[in-house]
Amino acid sequence: MSVRRSSVEALLSSQELDREVLVKGWVRTRRGNKYVQFIAVNDGSTIHNLQVVAAAESFPEETLKDVATGACVAVRGQLVASQGKGQAVEVQATEIEVLGKADPETYPLQKKGHSLEFLREIAHLRPRTNTFGAVLRLRHALAFAVHQYFNDRGFYYVHTPIITGSDAEGAGQMFRVTTLPDQNPPLTDDGKVDYKEDFFGKSTNLTVSGQLEGEVAAMALGKVYTFGPTFRAENSNTARHLAEFWMIEPEMAFFDLQDNMDLAEDFLKYLVRYALEKCPADLQFLNEQYDKELLARLQFVVDNEFQRLTYTEAVDILKKAKQKFEFPVDWGTDLQSEHERYLVEKHFRKPVILTDYPKEVKSFYMKLNEDGRTVRAMDVLFPGIGEIIGGSQREENLEKLEQRMQELHVPADELWWYLDLRRFGSAPHSGFGLGFERLVLFVTGMANIRDVIPFPRFPKNAEF
Ligand code: 4AD
Ligand code: MG
Repeated sequence: MSVRRSSVEALLSSQELDREVLVKGWVRTRRGNKYVQFIAVNDGSTIHNLQVVAAAESFPEETLKDVATGACVAVRGQLVASQGKGQAVEVQATEIEVLGKADPETYPLQKKGHSLEFLREIAHLRPRTNTFGAVLRLRHALAFAVHQYFNDRGFYYVHTPIITGSDAEGAGQMFRVTTLPDQNPPLTDDGKVDYKEDFFGKSTNLTVSGQLEGEVAAMALGKVYTFGPTFRAENSNTARHLAEFWMIEPEMAFFDLQDNMDLAEDFLKYLVRYALEKCPADLQFLNEQYDKELLARLQFVVDNEFQRLTYTEAVDILKKAKQKFEFPVDWGTDLQSEHERYLVEKHFRKPVILTDYPKEVKSFYMKLNEDGRTVRAMDVLFPGIGEIIGGSQREENLEKLEQRMQELHVPADELWWYLDLRRFGSAPHSGFGLGFERLVLFVTGMANIRDVIPFPRFPKNAEF
């Protein structure tokens, strides 16, 4: 008789006891004495381990020796009510097969309690820790929730290019994509690298944002979103920046800035609520292990309205603040993360949406306000994170857009297709970008963005 393999998750929540089961997973710990061994098995389906009880007399000493931390095992046995504390059920093993050994002398996760910094150096093994298991399951749940949210509301998922021929958005420094040889590349008459000879016949880069292409789709499909990798080569060695990160960018025809803010707030609350509902065990673990206020903070975001105010109002508050800032605040300067965090964490003590920034500190495509000085921008600021969303209403007027491009030296000839959207059937529209890892950072309560993506890319790091 052959039993089908069950997940640890399914077994731990099973009401059907006293039956034969088969489970496969990785050994987290093994303890016991010469009569009985207790083996904690985890297969990634849940943060909880399954306790396997093995009577020493039933197994060759060789087998039990190989059932070491990190080894992969297949266990057949009886699922029974557990005698011990800490678990409702356990498996009384009748057969144990070691599928893959792990030498206790060299297995890097032999002991518990490694630092997150150390774990970053073994990115290929850290998913086997409780912490990264929890983070990766939450990351999955949040990604799934993004698609669920938009699909339920009539948005279409569009795939914008990763290799881009326009480097005009100015959202960040770009990574070049080329097949030209690095030794003696073809040169033009005036001694520059001749990109006409390159794969695409021009110089190309990795995208910093799918927005401009998202606008193309919104001007045909109405409500769209992108969810893809984006790349920024800025040398920001911070706990909130990655060189490769994932961004969600909805773009909606006929939405003004107000609609855009309403969507952003509803979307963020939905995502946090989804995580609270679908991943209680993982969040409980992270709450206990890393951040005792995590669950309370998540619930607070779901339950409270975000504070909305203009940049100008924010600057007034910051100027009156008793706190000394490293960077002085004055109308016209971009806000630093210390200012954003003061507003969110000290002044309002809740998420904040700042709007109507000076045009000088924002991108060329944002819609100019009547005052001629500010643009219809919005940044959503979160506790512990700072900016989690950046967005705006877009300039739909051709002349005004061309004027802004000229002022900011954005090459109009490269973006002819973007300008065409304003030439043919232009419409008011808005959108925003949510940094997916900043979201995961917030929801997991981790402190460093490098710990919420499986293989982080940051300056001087691309080992895995
Ligand atoms: O504010 P940003 O640069 O906006 C855009 O790229 C627009 N095109 C979005 C749009 O309107 N469609 O980036 C949006 C968000 C930020 O708020 C932040 O959460 C995240 O992307 N982000 C980063 N996350 C991790 N590492 C980085 N280097 C990031 N840069 C931006
Ligand atoms: Mg921004």
